[in-house]
Amino acid sequence: MEVIIRPTAAEAARLTARLIARELRAKPALVLGLATGRTMEPVYAELVRLHREEGLDFALCRTFNLDEYVGLGPEDEGSYRRYMERHLFSRVNLDPRNTHTLDGKAPDLAAECARYERLIRECGGIDIQLLGLGADGHIGFNEPLSALLSRTREKALTPQTLLQNAELFGGRVDRVPRRALTMGVGTILESRRCLLLVTGAEKAAILAQAVEGPITSMVTGSALQLHPRCTVIVDEAAAMHLKGVEYYRWLFDNEPEWAEFRTAPPRATPGRRSRKRRRA
Ligand code: GLP
Repeated sequence: MEVIIRPTAAEAARLTARLIARELRAKPALVLGLATGRTMEPVYAELVRLHREEGLDFALCRTFNLDEYVGLGPEDEGSYRRYMERHLFSRVNLDPRNTHTLDGKAPDLAAECARYERLIRECGGIDIQLLGLGADGHIGFNEPLSALLSRTREKALTPQTLLQNAELFGGRVDRVPRRALTMGVGTILESRRCLLLVTGAEKAAILAQAVEGPITSMVTGSALQLHPRCTVIVDEAAAMHLKGVEYYRWLFDNEPEWAEFRTAPPRATPGRRSRKRRRA
């Protein structure tokens, strides 16, 4: 796992979009896992800009969304399918046949989840999975105590998640569906690369638990510590409770992978700085 800190939420989102764009340019038939939520909106806005202004081509790209509310179909305003249409699908040249979402209105939800798992496998697996972090530390809708090896399935949402997502239902908690279909933690961990984007002070405490705390099914974001290639992108506000910030900043400023994304000159190495401090 690596943590990249950017000064603002806008810059964190921009970096996330640029990383996705780099992968898509390198592999036009990229299998891209998508997430929803307010945090992702500027990422999709930047991808749309890159498509319109810099010719980023989605023609061969295939997408799989993480989750969907049970009982909501593509025509429902609050569904994640609608969210994706609004923010990305209708604004870039993705082929609708290549945009996969779970059907929250499927008559047999277990069969729908099995179909989704099969489809991901048939597409060769997910190359890069975009993730946000819920207020209770979930990824997708993998609520506390989700098995770390779980597959796509139906989950009951926590009262905290219902509250967190009420805004998308006109602020009415009673309108938020109580259950959802979600890729499992195990499904997510099979993606070749994970990108977790977390911004804002209100996520700082749960982010610190997910990144630097123990791996636990109580905070399913912590399972990402098991992933061989997980990049966590955060803004300064969300990074506020992280213990390793000096190292994380140093990585971004010095590791070759980040060279093309750097604008400021590199900082002094942590070692040199602490020696100076000791002498003073
Ligand atoms: C929902 C989604 C998650 C997302 C989370 C964060 O619960 N199922 O995938 O990460 O919202 O949402 P926001 O970005 O609005 O804080």
